[in-house]
Amino acid sequence: MPKIIDGKKISQEIKDELKEKVAHLKKQGTEIALAVIQVGEDPASSVYVRNKKRACEYIGIKSVAYEVPEATTQEELLEIIHKCNENPEINGILVQLPLPKHIDEDTVIKAIAPEKDVDGFHPQSVGAMTIGEPGFLPCTPAGIIQLLKRSGIEIEGKECVIVGRSNIVGKPMALLLLRENGTVTICHSRTKDLREVTKRADILVVAIGKPKFIDETYVKEGAVVIDVGIHRNENNKLCGDVDYDKVAPHTTAITPVPGGVGPMTIAMLMNNCVESALM
Ligand code: GUN
Repeated sequence: MPKIIDGKKISQEIKDELKEKVAHLKKQGTEIALAVIQVGEDPASSVYVRNKKRACEYIGIKSVAYEVPEATTQEELLEIIHKCNENPEINGILVQLPLPKHIDEDTVIKAIAPEKDVDGFHPQSVGAMTIGEPGFLPCTPAGIIQLLKRSGIEIEGKECVIVGRSNIVGKPMALLLLRENGTVTICHSRTKDLREVTKRADILVVAIGKPKFIDETYVKEGAVVIDVGIHRNENNKLCGDVDYDKVAPHTTAITPVPGGVGPMTIAMLMNNCVESALM
């Protein structure tokens, strides 16, 4: 039987550790505030934003919500970000993605002051991570490292294969696994023989955004499988990029969907908010 990596439990441990830290900081007179900016009413984004606000409340971080209409112009959004950059009472700024099509995401990400970039998406944060300097780490890949470490899974010397090369997950995941001394390969849609590569993995991280794409034929016996995907199937049930029922019996450890990687992203965002107040 594989070990089921319980992201809900591990994220709760992290949130409880942070709650204690925040209470301690409050006693010393340090308050932490996160600006949460949502443009439009994408239902999935609304769920994420609500969960982020809830996590703030649980830990004792003030969340300052900017929920602005879909028709907000790029200039108006940039103005909100500039105000937050300059407001000393705001420690972190989060702009929920995706943004409406008339707004350029890169421009918006670059407008966030790097010292408030709790998502870790600013080019300065990405550069610092790449060369191992201090800076905010992107929440989903940082959360995956925590899942592995807190489950006692060694990374050093392991064959780590990532499927997906997004700026938010695939690329930073590769850098963080490399930092932990893993041997890292990134696969993507142009990879010639995907199975041949994924079957080498001791640790397989899947972030391709296709429901149940990875079945047992892609996985080496005894691998550790981390599933970043989240989708609703035809029966309105949540599933990942990995076909869990087919893959799980062949693994030594696997993350479920829901309750695997998802809760870790928010826990690491909260961690970045606490760090932002200590900088
Ligand atoms: N949309 C999907 N994932 C994320 C994330 O980690 N941060 C933000 N800001 N938007 C997202």
